[in-house]
Amino acid sequence: MTVENVVDHPPHAAWLPDAAFTAVGRRRVAVLAPDVSGPGARIPAPGPDRSREVLATLHHEVAAATAAHGGAVVGQDEAPDLLLTLLPGPAHPGPPHPGSAPTPPPSPAPARSGFRVVRDDGRVTVSATGPTALLHGFFHVVRQGEDAFTGPDTDETHAPAQALRVLDHWDNVDVHAVMGQVERGYAGGSIFYDDGRVRDDLSRVTAYARLLAAVGIDRVCINNVNVHAREARLLTDDLAEVARIAAALRPYGVRTHLAVSFAAPMTLGGLPTSDPLDDDVRAWWRAAADRVWATIGDFGGFVVKADSEGQPGPFAYGCDHADGANLLAAAVAPHGGVVHWRAFVYDHTQDWRDRSTDRARAAYDHFAPLDGRFADNVVVQVKHGPLDFQTREAVSPVLAAMPRTRLALELQVTQEYTGQQRHACYLGPWWSENLAFRPWGDDGARVADVVAGRGPGPGGGIAAVSNVGDDRFWTGHPLAQANLYAFGRLAWDPALDAADVLDEWVSLTFPGDDGTVDVRVREVLHAVLDDSWHTYESYTAPLGVGFMVRPGHHYGPDVDGYEYTPWGTYHFADRDGIGVDRTRATGTGFTGQYPAPWRDVYESLETCPDELLLFFHHVPWTHVLHSGVTVAQHVYDTHFAGVERVRETVAAWESLAGLVPGDVDTRVRERLAEQLRSATEWRDQLNTYVWRKSGVADAHGRTIY
Ligand code: GCU
Repeated sequence: MTVENVVDHPPHAAWLPDAAFTAVGRRRVAVLAPDVSGPGARIPAPGPDRSREVLATLHHEVAAATAAHGGAVVGQDEAPDLLLTLLPGPAHPGPPHPGSAPTPPPSPAPARSGFRVVRDDGRVTVSATGPTALLHGFFHVVRQGEDAFTGPDTDETHAPAQALRVLDHWDNVDVHAVMGQVERGYAGGSIFYDDGRVRDDLSRVTAYARLLAAVGIDRVCINNVNVHAREARLLTDDLAEVARIAAALRPYGVRTHLAVSFAAPMTLGGLPTSDPLDDDVRAWWRAAADRVWATIGDFGGFVVKADSEGQPGPFAYGCDHADGANLLAAAVAPHGGVVHWRAFVYDHTQDWRDRSTDRARAAYDHFAPLDGRFADNVVVQVKHGPLDFQTREAVSPVLAAMPRTRLALELQVTQEYTGQQRHACYLGPWWSENLAFRPWGDDGARVADVVAGRGPGPGGGIAAVSNVGDDRFWTGHPLAQANLYAFGRLAWDPALDAADVLDEWVSLTFPGDDGTVDVRVREVLHAVLDDSWHTYESYTAPLGVGFMVRPGHHYGPDVDGYEYTPWGTYHFADRDGIGVDRTRATGTGFTGQYPAPWRDVYESLETCPDELLLFFHHVPWTHVLHSGVTVAQHVYDTHFAGVERVRETVAAWESLAGLVPGDVDTRVRERLAEQLRSATEWRDQLNTYVWRKSGVADAHGRTIY
């Protein structure tokens, strides 16, 4: 635990400060749900524990909000302004408010995990058929603030686009010698573990679950996909500890998942093999799953990274990923569990001299041929890009190649490659771009449709690597909270506009005493964040070429850092040019993994978008972009401009002195200073590299070293 996190510094409220509850809290609220202890209780039959707990949470939230803001908890027949009602079966119109106008005609029933909001003459009824959905409905009203009560009459249903919305934590139980407590974590230690064990005090975990419930996330995988020896034991010896974490997440309706090691039958079970076709191995996994669900009745499932970056997998037995995934799927199926099987598989021992092997091809080459072979409860989890969460890369063609497989999109909220929560980089626009991408062209489904089951295949939802740690602000950089918020909101509704989502986050996170946000604060936060991803892109690796980061920790520039390594992440710069030829005509053939029209759009220099040029093509430094400047000049221009934009960001933020809480201000200033230093370093290294390699002078004669 860091010094800052001692008890007298409670965690930052993020998007749930007391003031965010002002509108709800000053009203008369009734909860009609089967909680015997709740003041609004009417239905006597208690549900299963999970339902009871979530309902108790709802009662608690309502009681706390009304107590804080002068409202009241009332019965449903006492003319509540807000009625939260749990419906017994499939959704139907909620009970009318006494004295209200006739109930409007029923709208289509919400999906089981959705909720319905009826506003009738300023009175609001939220109904759902499940407690977690009702809790999500409550937070929806919180998010809307006064608008929830003052808008015109309405009858809306809100159901999540993605049925599965998961946050993956790359948290280690033991502090890893290289990766630390949280792999790619930039926000302190783990909220779950501290130096070798599950924390005694898990109140932070419950506070986290609350934040997640407020954005509609209901599943969390609590350990690193790189399952080391200590973490593997969570599945067996440490189940009681996992159950404690599950108990801390459950009140807010969040289910627990575990990352497991494919070698567990050997390493934990003492079997001589982990062969997925071996009967003893199957029995071992079956028994392991039975024990998990016997201990944690609402457990969600397993996440697996197999045959990837040194993790064990089915290849050792001459089997493929479908064999491996189906082994685990069979074990969890009786419990309704799901297996998230990651498609992040490639050769990390590549020879840099070999120009024919292309890491971008790997996931498709491994997985596309297996389409149709995965069990129904397997979700193949695909990173958004074919490489590795870069600031800019093409959308993974795997997402268009497996119509008979449940596919999930995997995003990275933790900013491994986007400034490590030292740089302000709002990723909402980047995720929106990925979600809105249409692999089959203008008339085809979007990526968001594919993973929602509204494309050609069944859909497996969305997952992301969390950016949260035991840092007082949760995310290191306070403004990185916006990324966690946006992930939840876009997972629920991928059609939301990223700037609108940011605006919601600002409204909730920075309210003044009266519950509203100072207009200057709102404007500056938009100025700082709206376009920050483009700003970050502009001073880092250019035109989709990727990486150029320091090997290992991946922070800061090192243009050739990965150029002669086994990792398959090359840019091939020489005196003549730069970029990776992934064309069918002369390169690795990767463009051929896309359906039309993209296979041709990317293949041709004429049509390939500038921002992905070096991802798909190797071109001379003097190649003229669609923008009208050469590649070399583009690097100079964007890098000089990017640093200027960071300078403007710093000035904009400083104009908020006294308008945002002092602790937030101090932390953000500290981070912005580092961002400016680092952006300057990126600028100078990139510009100097290009100038020295190419000999192409900057048309504007600026300082290059
Ligand atoms: C990246 C990251 C690793 C991580 C891997 C993964 O390569 O650097 O730390 O383990 O992604 O997604 O599995």
